[in-house]
Amino acid sequence: MFDGKTVLVTGATSGIGFATAQRLLVEGARVVAVGRNAQRLDELVRLGGDAVMPLAFDLTAFARYQETLAAVPALDGLVHSAGIVENNPLRFFSLETHQRIVAINQTAPLALVAELARGNKLNTGSSVVLLSSILGAHVGIKGTASYAGTKAALAAFARVMALELAHKGIRVNCVAPGMVQTELVDQLHQLSDEALQADRARYPLGKRYATAQEVAAAIRFLLSADAAFMTGQTIVVDGGFTAQ
Ligand SMILES: NC(=O)c1ccc[n+]([C@@H]2O[C@H](COP(=O)([O-])OP(=O)(O)OC[C@H]3O[C@@H](n4cnc5c(N)ncnc54)[C@H](OP(=O)(O)O)[C@@H]3O)[C@@H](O)[C@H]2O)c1
Repeated sequence: MFDGKTVLVTGATSGIGFATAQRLLVEGARVVAVGRNAQRLDELVRLGGDAVMPLAFDLTAFARYQETLAAVPALDGLVHSAGIVENNPLRFFSLETHQRIVAINQTAPLALVAELARGNKLNTGSSVVLLSSILGAHVGIKGTASYAGTKAALAAFARVMALELAHKGIRVNCVAPGMVQTELVDQLHQLSDEALQADRARYPLGKRYATAQEVAAAIRFLLSADAAFMTGQTIVVDGGFTAQ
């Protein structure tokens, strides 16, 4: 399905990005895998061999974008899955925390797409997929203003980028998951097992969080020719959570 296609995946070292990279490799793509964790990048290389081009890179090192991305081959797809979640409640608001979240979740994808577009690295007909969240548009959770704001921005970015890049046939869309069982969720130590169990029970389909593979399937769809006339949109993958 992706034979001869090259897709750059950020966050390829964990969770949704890792599952997406795995799926693309199985379907014949060449994957430019971006992350900071060298061990996890090696793991991907062991899985995909020559089809994986590991790119150990801190995506908040904006001054290095031009030089680093010049080495990237022309792309048929880009998935921005890198991101962090940290609580930043109003009462204890930290500008430092806010800026840390904004840098990787919001500034990085905009700077990345801009640099790749300017460098003519996005082939005609390529597809960009940004990882938003149901917190970006549909629901609020106390303490998440910084994170949710970055995710709302991605839906806006997708609309604007879709218009700016349509003349080259480049599509830009978002996938907005509810909770997904990944390391990002494993790090939410402030929730007890009981609280997590109760939260999972709020998901109509199966009373569970999504798997990374289920989200990767939606990303794969948006990358594929099956989504050839979709751009500027957000697909929600949340087991019916926001349908309630
Ligand atoms: N899990 C969920 O419940 C959920 C729900 C909705 C939306 N999302 C969104 O989906 C995306 C993926 O989430 P996930 O659960 O797969 O997260 P994850 O397992 O914690 O993985 C996060 C990835 O981001 C990369 N990353 C973080 N900071 C980076 C930086 N400065 N430079 C380069 N890479 C960086 C990490 O790579 P290294 O450690 O190698 O740098 C890692 O591969 C995120 O944008 C998240 O907001 C997740």
